[in-house]
Amino acid sequence: MASTDLSELAKRAAWLRSEIERHNTLYYVYDRPEIGDSEWDALFAELVSIENEHPELRTPDSPTLRVGAPPMAGFEQHRHLVPMLSLDNAFGEDELRAFDDRVRRGLGVEQVEYFVELKFDGLSISLTYEDGLLEIATTRGDGTTGEVVTPNARTVRGIPLRLQGDFPRAPFEVRGEVLMTKNAFESVNRARIEAGEEPFVNPRNAAAGGMRQLDSRLTAQRQLSFFAYQAVANPPIAPSQSETMDRLREFGFAVNDRGRRCMDLGEVLDFVHAVEGIRASLPFGIDGVVVKVDRLDEQESLGSTARGPRWAIASKFPAEQALTILRRVFGNVGRTGVVSPVADLEPVFVGGVTVGRATLHNWEDVARKDVREGDTVIVQRAGDVIPEIVGAVLDKRVGDPPPVTPPSHCPECGTALVREPGYVALKCPNRACPAQIARKIEHFASRLAMDIEGLGEKQIARFLELGYLTDLPSVYRLHEHRAELVGLDRMGEQSVDNLLHAIESSKTRPLDRFVYALGIRYVGDRTAGDLAREFRTLEALRHADYEALVTVPDIGPRSAAEIQEWFEEEENRALLDELLRFGVSPIEAEAPVSDLFAGQTIVFTGKLERMTREDAEALVLRLGGKASGSVSKVTSLVVAGPGAGSKLAKAEQLGVPVISEEDFLAMLPQGG
Ligand code: IVH
Repeated sequence: MASTDLSELAKRAAWLRSEIERHNTLYYVYDRPEIGDSEWDALFAELVSIENEHPELRTPDSPTLRVGAPPMAGFEQHRHLVPMLSLDNAFGEDELRAFDDRVRRGLGVEQVEYFVELKFDGLSISLTYEDGLLEIATTRGDGTTGEVVTPNARTVRGIPLRLQGDFPRAPFEVRGEVLMTKNAFESVNRARIEAGEEPFVNPRNAAAGGMRQLDSRLTAQRQLSFFAYQAVANPPIAPSQSETMDRLREFGFAVNDRGRRCMDLGEVLDFVHAVEGIRASLPFGIDGVVVKVDRLDEQESLGSTARGPRWAIASKFPAEQALTILRRVFGNVGRTGVVSPVADLEPVFVGGVTVGRATLHNWEDVARKDVREGDTVIVQRAGDVIPEIVGAVLDKRVGDPPPVTPPSHCPECGTALVREPGYVALKCPNRACPAQIARKIEHFASRLAMDIEGLGEKQIARFLELGYLTDLPSVYRLHEHRAELVGLDRMGEQSVDNLLHAIESSKTRPLDRFVYALGIRYVGDRTAGDLAREFRTLEALRHADYEALVTVPDIGPRSAAEIQEWFEEEENRALLDELLRFGVSPIEAEAPVSDLFAGQTIVFTGKLERMTREDAEALVLRLGGKASGSVSKVTSLVVAGPGAGSKLAKAEQLGVPVISEEDFLAMLPQGG
């Protein structure tokens, strides 16, 4: 090939490289793509083909390197020019206050400006740039010496291979966190399960493992992300942390845009609380907030200890995952007779509470996760959800414990378990099973159902044992045992009377609560509300046929069939008649008092400060609207409070309007 052709090609390759990187930056840094995926793919394919034909034209900043390079034999060690320090932790407001006191005392000033950022839950890496080119990427290692992982770093979007703008020409370092987004985690795990491989237990491990691959093509498959949070340069690239972030963004780094400058500790605390509220809805995991003194000269005058800088602190959130020992897996009998696996754990502090029990969902889940008794397991508790077992840490398995086998008989009554066609669950078919009866009564008496104060799990167990309770109607015969009840341990005359009074007043609960209390499969409190509103009276509901049921909005064929069957069954009809005979007389459902929310479906998510979620939903109903528990295309409005998670994210994704509790209250009629 003539040299002019080659130089033309070299020019074309250079143009392609800069175009591709420009589009990468628009996409990954600014979230503002100018071209579609297929156009990007075409540019990329053209560059790959030029470089394959003419390897001499490949440069160290070529975006084609992002797909990975051939494996390395091992990791080279690299001594950091400036040690990569760790951060001291602060748990709670008092410790942040103490940090602020130390800082202000250390600087001898009244007021300090801070820059606060998310604390990304990934692994830190250091990137050295020389003349704008990525030369070396290393892990943190022990803080002094790390491992060279340059080919791996090149596969990570958000790490520029060549800098833009007015960057320092002399070698300087940028530090930040490599992480895996929740979406990438799911997609990578789906692919692994399909390929018959073990799924990763959490995004952090997947990211950390990804950066330590000798074959960077494997790193590339992990779809890792990066956020820059520090520059080590002499002279510094900016006089403060906040301006450093702006400059890093100009250079082409992905910088998270939730960082904030705070004028005092009060603003810092507000930021911390706000972040706690949105934690679950972020597209990636964080484990806290990092608070940094903003001005670099102040940072320098405060200096560092061997552990970490005096000018920064990590305000940590409770870990959402923890390791503990799985003592035993046992079958727990639910209200409908379903026997589900529950993990008995060595108690562990996770997600802000101590957890000794966790769910394993169903027996297939136990087999798929291959958790065994005695294993070290990962327990997860995010937000308000029930703690669950994510998986076992196989490296820590001692010996070769046998796999957990599902029970063949009911752990409570010994009846052989059955698997209903079409369901994965194992079920105890014995309606007289004491555990089922206990769960049924507990549900019947619970707050959202008949709301019988004083009739909780412990009392129910005691009364069942003594034979005072035998089934749901027996609740209304409990007064016949008044004399014996008064003699019971820790049951005075007053508390017995309170209990009997609570039972008496439960006879006139609204219809929806009564329907919910019956514990019909698929009939949660919302469905019960839908049914009550549609049919108004118990008489109408108990005689509704399938056609009438299935036309109720939100009630699908499966629930409709289940509800109809329930009311048709002889035993249940007798149960209803008996309850009515005892004087239970549910109040007819109210008609809406206004049509303010007519035709609208409203979802409440997160914590409400001024009312309970049930009250808020009841309000929507009274004002002619519908309350729902999940966000979909038909949702008209989402009211989100602190701690809102996936529902908020879904609303944002679907473009459903989101308002605060305050906004919601402002919509209501005055005095109502
Ligand atoms: S600054 C000397 N900023 O947290 C200060 N670190 O617990 C160095 N981390 O090793 C760190 N997000 O891996 C800083 N916005 C952030 C961070 C962050 C996550 C990690 C980092 C560090 C660890 C310390």
